[in-house]
Amino acid sequence: MNDRLYDDILSAAGPRETLPRITTQGYGEVMAIKEAMAAALPGITSLRDFGGCYLVHGRYLLTPVRILKLRFASMVDVNPVPEFAAAVEETRAQLPDTEFETIKGDFRDPALFVGLRATDAALLYEVLLHQENYVEVIRNVCERTSKFVCIAQPCLRETFFPLPAGAVMLQFYDEALKDLLRIESFWPKEPRTDRFTPAHWMWGHATSHIVAVMRGFGWSLMDGKVVDNVCGRCWEYPLMVFARR
Ligand SMILES: C[S@@+](CC[C@H](N)C(=O)[O-])C[C@H]1O[C@@H](n2cnc3c(N)ncnc32)[C@H](O)[C@@H]1O
Repeated sequence: MNDRLYDDILSAAGPRETLPRITTQGYGEVMAIKEAMAAALPGITSLRDFGGCYLVHGRYLLTPVRILKLRFASMVDVNPVPEFAAAVEETRAQLPDTEFETIKGDFRDPALFVGLRATDAALLYEVLLHQENYVEVIRNVCERTSKFVCIAQPCLRETFFPLPAGAVMLQFYDEALKDLLRIESFWPKEPRTDRFTPAHWMWGHATSHIVAVMRGFGWSLMDGKVVDNVCGRCWEYPLMVFARR
């Protein structure tokens, strides 16, 4: 490509979606924001968390359920850990009229969504970068959600993408490249694989990519910010609330 065309394309691409950028005291503060974001959703009575069990045992679901006294709380996770079941029982004792649902299943499978009861809001926290069919997952989640979808996850900084709305398949990158991208991040060293492995990091999305995909399904960014200092020099951490248009 001649240099002039390349330069013209880059300047025609224009500025990216710019969300307010914040710095935090660390990941603990990010966890608190992830909870608060869902607990601040207006006018909801039901919430579903897709993949909310690992390490956090459903706190992003159950804290908003308690604060907003929601009527229906649903968890979908391939591995619903016993600590989550215990946390549900504690919450049930405080909110005896709330209905709790736990679905042990794989949300990459479209069949999981057939007959799934709709909720007002849904959480996709640190799950999309692990799914080979994340666009289909987003579509299925959006179809079963009536008002808000919250998304939070590490995203590769826009500077890695000459064009906006970019994403890269990084699961099969050379280890040397992965190690550079891991610097100062919480992406752990993982065994090599040549097949899609959802337990490991699969995608490097730009924040603008997630916003563009959600826009394509008819959802607008209602509120959002980007944490600048929690996942190293290569990654930013957007916290976003999308509303159905
Ligand atoms: C990285 S953890 C994220 C946990 C939590 N949402 C957070 O933000 O800290 C991913 C979680 O999603 C679940 N998970 C990942 N892929 C899944 C899939 N395709 N179907 C169902 N659960 C999945 C895992 O079992 C795990 O609980």
